[in-house]
Amino acid sequence: MKESILVVDDVPDMLKFLERLIQEELHVDVVALDDAEKAMEKVLKDPPSIVLADIRMPKMNGVELLRRIKEMDHSPLVIMMTAYGSIEDAVESLKLGAYDYITKPFDEERLLHTLKKALEHHDLVKKNIDLEKRVKEKEALNGFIGESLPIRRLVETIKIVAKTDLTVLITGETGTGKDLAARMIHALSHRSNKPFIPVNCPTIPETILESELFGYKKGAFTGAAQDKMGLFGTADGGTLLLDEIGDLPTMLQAKLLRVLEEKEIKPLGDTKTNKIDVRVIASTNQDLKEKIASHQFREDLYHRLNVVSISTPSLKEIAEDIPLIANHFLSFYCSEFNIAQKRFSEDTLRMFISRRWTGNVRELQNEIKRAVIFSKGEMITPEDFQNETRLPYPEENADSLLKLTYKEARKNLLEKFNVQYIRDLLDKYSGNVSLAARMAGLERQSLQHLIKRYGIHPEEFRKSANKM
Ligand SMILES: Nc1ncnc2c1ncn2[C@@H]1O[C@H](COP(=O)(O)OP(=O)(O)OP(=O)(O)O)[C@@H](O)[C@H]1O
Ligand SMILES: [Mg+2]
Repeated sequence: MKESILVVDDVPDMLKFLERLIQEELHVDVVALDDAEKAMEKVLKDPPSIVLADIRMPKMNGVELLRRIKEMDHSPLVIMMTAYGSIEDAVESLKLGAYDYITKPFDEERLLHTLKKALEHHDLVKKNIDLEKRVKEKEALNGFIGESLPIRRLVETIKIVAKTDLTVLITGETGTGKDLAARMIHALSHRSNKPFIPVNCPTIPETILESELFGYKKGAFTGAAQDKMGLFGTADGGTLLLDEIGDLPTMLQAKLLRVLEEKEIKPLGDTKTNKIDVRVIASTNQDLKEKIASHQFREDLYHRLNVVSISTPSLKEIAEDIPLIANHFLSFYCSEFNIAQKRFSEDTLRMFISRRWTGNVRELQNEIKRAVIFSKGEMITPEDFQNETRLPYPEENADSLLKLTYKEARKNLLEKFNVQYIRDLLDKYSGNVSLAARMAGLERQSLQHLIKRYGIHPEEFRKSANKM
């Protein structure tokens, strides 16, 4: 399907200019509209790949348009145009999920470059949604790799719990397989032919989370043009995973508690409730007990969720499984990318076992994916890993730091901090360097410089839509 861009601006000359420029330079379908309400109708009926919208418009402004677009599932990418000097608008838009912004008066080259990037991104997201879905399905079937006691116990518990309808709370560090555990529970349950709906609580703006979860009636608020089913409704008969439950706003915690107790939901603006049959699994890598103590999490909800608790072990706890897991990913990616089977040298496996993996299995998996793509020979060696892997990782205790001079110790920690910070930052903003720099208060160039210096690859973080 041909890519399309919807341009929205209330100034006729500007609109015409943009339409022509984009059509001529990018050879995509362009629809130009002078009013945000018309634009919203168009987006709902026939979503374009990208929306390029002015912020200042009479009637509905661009920010409101953006907010409504972002309520859709698989919404198009939105790029905002702001007047020079109104940086608050731009920041607000980015917070609401805009892909990028352009300040007016703009440089044509820069506009076209941003649009091209967005088109590439859109294409990647589309491809990635398919790929990710396939990979996740395969993974849920394969399940957890490992023969250590913690993994065997985990799998055993999952199998037992899957046969029940009990609410489950899954805790564990990032990248330890909480999502995988939830998928397995669903796949092994009587609900397996009904939907599995993961909801990443912190990525949905607080203002729309309630309507996302429970749905709304037409007219419930300005912009609610028709009834919308919430995620609970979509998951009916199946399983809903509330990921990062610790970040659920307190107001919604109370509502969720009621839903779990009454097994019914009340869409926004509705007078009656609907019965639902949804199994809820919640997961978190935060310490909920601590959040309860500081009154950020309701204790009654905690007990209601924690009917069964499952915890996924960190990679450190299952270090003996590392070679098995690493080899599993190695053959998986070699066949996924159609590359002749490679293997790890012994010192690579040793390095894997001794290295600290703050991102746990996910980090190991990503490193192996990269190494499969970038390594030259048939044998993968420690040199095939990015700098970070070869950085001397001081243990966090003062003892080993004290073996170094002050300068060395500081350098080590600083490097480690830099690498971790940049990787987390890029991960959060899906490899979008400009956006990441902006959000971190850095000049784009300074961030680029750090990225180069530590051999980090932003492409690695450009991933599927559901993380954005
Ligand atoms: N023991 C394991 N064997 C095989 N694959 C695993 C194992 N543990 C985790 N994985 C894989 O690691 C990746 C990360 O796991 P997952 O997304 O479930 O982590 P998570 O705990 O939900 O992380 P986060 O807190 O960041 O959301 C997934 O691709 C998952 O399939
Ligand atoms: Mg997860």
